[in-house]
Amino acid sequence: MAAFVKPVIAGNWKMHKGPSQTREFFSRFIELREATADRTILFFPPAVSLAAAVEALAGRPDLLLGVQNSHWEREGAFTGEISPGMARDAGARFALIGHSERRHLFGETNEEVGRKVAAAFEAGLTPVVCVGETLEEREAGRLEEVILGQLDAAIEGIAPELVAQMILAYEPVWAIGTGVNATPEDAADAHGRLRRRLAERIGDDRAAEVPILYGGSVKPNNAQALLAAPDVDGLLVGGASLDPESFAAITRS
Ligand code: 13P
Repeated sequence: MAAFVKPVIAGNWKMHKGPSQTREFFSRFIELREATADRTILFFPPAVSLAAAVEALAGRPDLLLGVQNSHWEREGAFTGEISPGMARDAGARFALIGHSERRHLFGETNEEVGRKVAAAFEAGLTPVVCVGETLEEREAGRLEEVILGQLDAAIEGIAPELVAQMILAYEPVWAIGTGVNATPEDAADAHGRLRRRLAERIGDDRAAEVPILYGGSVKPNNAQALLAAPDVDGLLVGGASLDPESFAAITRS
């Protein structure tokens, strides 16, 4: 972990759980997980379930919410999209930007990711920017080129003091939903490269403030080892965040 950073444990529910299942999840999760000052815990439910989540978490200000995607415009003729200002109004404080599924299934480009990051900051949301290489890119020796290119594009034109407030997530595409997690050494290597590039862009002190999360097949049985790796400041959990027991266990890692 970097100095001073409190571990961030985030659950990305992807296209799972409507409002009813969201209420069920939180009624159980709240029983299982008492408030804690030593972890930041975030949830990214589907946008249609945000209101149910806000209501369910009314007594738990320690459990924070975000959206899985937000547009770069404030409003307009963009059918199916939501703006960061609307997300904030609905109770989100964070926005996942550039998740690999957005990039690879929906064609989101580096340039669009940069615009979304700027818009999220402008609306008062903390962007959680996701980067990661495919297996093909990794095997071709292009890990650094790909993830640093994604990082550079995401923070292009953003003031260093704002960049210091974002969260970064390294999610190798080959580890997402496959059951094959990166080893703690692989994660530390990629996170170290990202931290050094951040330091070049915004200075060492500010770079040390940015939590860098690892995501990709995180489970209760590998969370602790991943979290103990150098420069791994938290975890972004997909499948294992859908079950209250397993996610509560991960938050205790
Ligand atoms: P899994 O934990 O299901 O591999 O998903 C990781 C992820 O994409 C989180 O954003």
